[in-house]
Amino acid sequence: MDDRNPVLPESLGVVRGVWEGLPQLVIDHDLAANNRVITLNRSSQAHAAFDMMRTKLLRLLRENNWTSVAITSPTPACGKTCITLNLAFSLANQKDCRTVLIDLDLRRPQIGKTLAIKNQGSIESFLKGDAGLRETFFRYGDNLAIGPNRQAVHFSAELLQSAAASKSLHEMRREIKPDVILYDLPPMLSTDDVLAFLPNVDGVILVAASDQSTVSEVDMCEQSLREKTNVLGVVLNKSHYSQEQYGY
Ligand SMILES: Nc1ncnc2c1ncn2[C@@H]1O[C@H](COP(=O)(O)OP(=O)(O)OP(=O)(O)O)[C@@H](O)[C@H]1O
Ligand SMILES: [Mg+2]
Repeated sequence: MDDRNPVLPESLGVVRGVWEGLPQLVIDHDLAANNRVITLNRSSQAHAAFDMMRTKLLRLLRENNWTSVAITSPTPACGKTCITLNLAFSLANQKDCRTVLIDLDLRRPQIGKTLAIKNQGSIESFLKGDAGLRETFFRYGDNLAIGPNRQAVHFSAELLQSAAASKSLHEMRREIKPDVILYDLPPMLSTDDVLAFLPNVDGVILVAASDQSTVSEVDMCEQSLREKTNVLGVVLNKSHYSQEQYGY
């Protein structure tokens, strides 16, 4: 890949029409920043770390012709949702790149709450094929689509590995033509949701929290992920030993 000539998204009228048809999302930047989403208004030094993460990720995806990235962690509360959102808004600043973010932490959806999104759709209905793109996704700017989830889902592992889910995601990719899809997943060691969904992704980012995750947890998760997919990176979050809040 030649960095001076990045692959530009298709500017087909059809694709643009689908994007323009998604309801527009207005986000309160201060509220988001209070919830540690700092790449919207670049209110913290940490945005540089996310921009670096974005650039490394984009290079890796483009080199391998990959699009779909899952974000998980060993245990709850390591910062998956924060990192996914910050990465998504950093990607949104990359105007030649279309990004989709979907809340697939089906048992505990947090994307809509973190951004205070009203009129959220149901990811369960979307994955089952009962709700379309316009009922599920919002558009932030011209090149970021966000699919929050208003309600927790029972039997989420079964839904995540269903043929219907795979078909709905395939249709979404065909219509929206994203360059990057970020899936905010649950923690790996609590449920089988992540393993159930891995066949749908090209790679995974594993988020560990420095004050919480043990070396053996990270090793165990990384090894288990490597058997099934590509591990694109391990992010050390909540580090007290660096000036940056986020390591990569
Ligand atoms: N770098 C950080 N420094 C301090 N606090 C952080 C950092 N990253 C995230 N947090 C806080 O940690 C908590 C958990 O973050 P977040 O919800 O992003 O984690 P999660 O892994 O998605 O959790 P869950 O497993 O519940 O989905 C939140 O209160 C968030 O604001
Ligand atoms: Mg979360």
